[in-house]
Amino acid sequence: MMKSPQSQSQNAIVSSFTKLFNVQLHILNLLSLFLFFGCGLILGIILSFSLKDFSFNLHITQFSQLTSSSSPSLQSESVSSSGGGGFSRVGLREYLKPPNVTHDMEDQELLWRASMSPKIQEYPFERVPKVAFLFLARGPVLLAPLWEKFFKGYEELYSIYVHSSPSFNESEGEPPGSAFHGRRIPSKNVGWGDVNMVEAERRLLANALLDFSNERFVLLSESCIPLFNFTTIYSYLMNSTQNFVELYDLEGPVGRGRYSPEMGPKISIDQWRKGSQWFQIDRDLAIEIVSDKTYFPLFQNYCKGNCYADEHYLPTFVYMKFAEKNANRTLTWVDWSYGGPHPRRFIRSGVTVEFLKKLRNGYSCEYNGNSTNICYLFARKFLPNTLDRLLRSAPTVLHIS
Ligand SMILES: *[C@@H]1O[C@H](CO)[C@@H](O)[C@H](O)[C@H]1NC(C)=O
Ligand SMILES: *[C@@H]1O[C@H](CO)[C@@H](O)[C@H](O)[C@H]1NC(C)=O
Ligand SMILES: *[C@@H]1O[C@H](CO)[C@@H](O)[C@H](O)[C@H]1NC(C)=O
Ligand SMILES: *[C@@H]1O[C@H](CO)[C@@H](O)[C@H](O)[C@H]1NC(C)=O
Ligand SMILES: *[C@@H]1O[C@H](CO)[C@@H](O)[C@H](O)[C@H]1NC(C)=O
Ligand SMILES: *[C@@H]1O[C@H](CO)[C@@H](O)[C@H](O)[C@H]1NC(C)=O
Repeated sequence: MMKSPQSQSQNAIVSSFTKLFNVQLHILNLLSLFLFFGCGLILGIILSFSLKDFSFNLHITQFSQLTSSSSPSLQSESVSSSGGGGFSRVGLREYLKPPNVTHDMEDQELLWRASMSPKIQEYPFERVPKVAFLFLARGPVLLAPLWEKFFKGYEELYSIYVHSSPSFNESEGEPPGSAFHGRRIPSKNVGWGDVNMVEAERRLLANALLDFSNERFVLLSESCIPLFNFTTIYSYLMNSTQNFVELYDLEGPVGRGRYSPEMGPKISIDQWRKGSQWFQIDRDLAIEIVSDKTYFPLFQNYCKGNCYADEHYLPTFVYMKFAEKNANRTLTWVDWSYGGPHPRRFIRSGVTVEFLKKLRNGYSCEYNGNSTNICYLFARKFLPNTLDRLLRSAPTVLHIS
């Protein structure tokens, strides 16, 4: 039987070692010794390369298991940043990251981007829906300390966007650490009753739509307050089957009288509606509003001066296209009982426990088809000097602790 070359060389080694100390060293033995070590070296290199990836991967898995208990986001971070090659996974992470609030998109670019909506309704990732709070302010959010209390502890469930006058110096606004700090979107001038007020609302909506986790959108002014704690408001909004855009038909100069025949035939006087601008809507309706290229231009062109687009655009648009899913009321309480073009403004002495309790439970309305006495979640207009009393009532009356 022939011996295999391998066993031949092994024999050779054994003998070579014994002969190594002998004076007589055969040249052939030396050659086979080199050959053997050469083969071993190559085999070793090949093995170490193929095992390296394996052990590297194993190392990462162990590391991420260690860290995942404290922070799940760190796990994906460590895999992708150290991976390189076939083992990194970005998935949708980059796509889902909302852009910086202080971006440099023009309105046209912003609205176009915000109008995108996925055709597949189910999300292929775990999505915690958020409420986007949109503050339409002149400068600072006047009652910020009350809102800070309201938001504290619910950071995963809300986002804030503030639209204020471009002349407002942000460094005079809310300090670092505040929920409002760094949440100002690129803003433009807003005139009372001007159509650019609606443009600001659409700008706020568009910015908030860029974050895919925002599911409900609430428009607030700088003088608004919450009437309930975060959990109550979050559930009320998330569980609602309807949108809250107040709308009604009103005869006379401050209602139908503001309609312009030039808006026809797309908008007829029968479709003209009025209502409060302070809305609470879902993502679908928000996308429709930023995408509207049919009706909004008519308001930009023909709803000027004493027309007050902010009181008519959304009520008319929603009445024409999305009425069946609308509650036709707003969740923001305001006192118009004194008459005139402005609602009543509340000063310190107006804020009593009885008053706040009445706003919370003193009304009757429908919610998801059932009758309820929680009809308002927010209220306006509160002057800055009401803050002390509001903060004192917050834990006891408003259940905001
Ligand atoms: C967002 O933009 C501001 C101002 O341009 C900049 O200072 C900040 O670093 C940016 N943040 C991120 C996360 O890019
Ligand atoms: C904003 O205010 C800060 C400090 O009050 C000041 O240093 C800065 O120059 C102001 N910026 C503008 C654009 O006025
Ligand atoms: C919706 O209401 C149900 C009970 O009515 C409640 O269990 C659930 O937590 C609510 N959903 C949210 C998001 O609050
Ligand atoms: C709101 O008004 C529209 C149109 O008038 C109507 O179809 C809808 O049923 C109303 N919604 C409620 C909750 O009453
Ligand atoms: C609300 O109404 C639905 C039907 O519209 C009913 O099934 C449900 O029990 C009601 N809930 C309450 C708390 O009355
Ligand atoms: C929120 O307020 C409601 C009453 O409006 C109260 O029942 C509930 O316990 C409060 N939740 C928290 C987390 O404070």
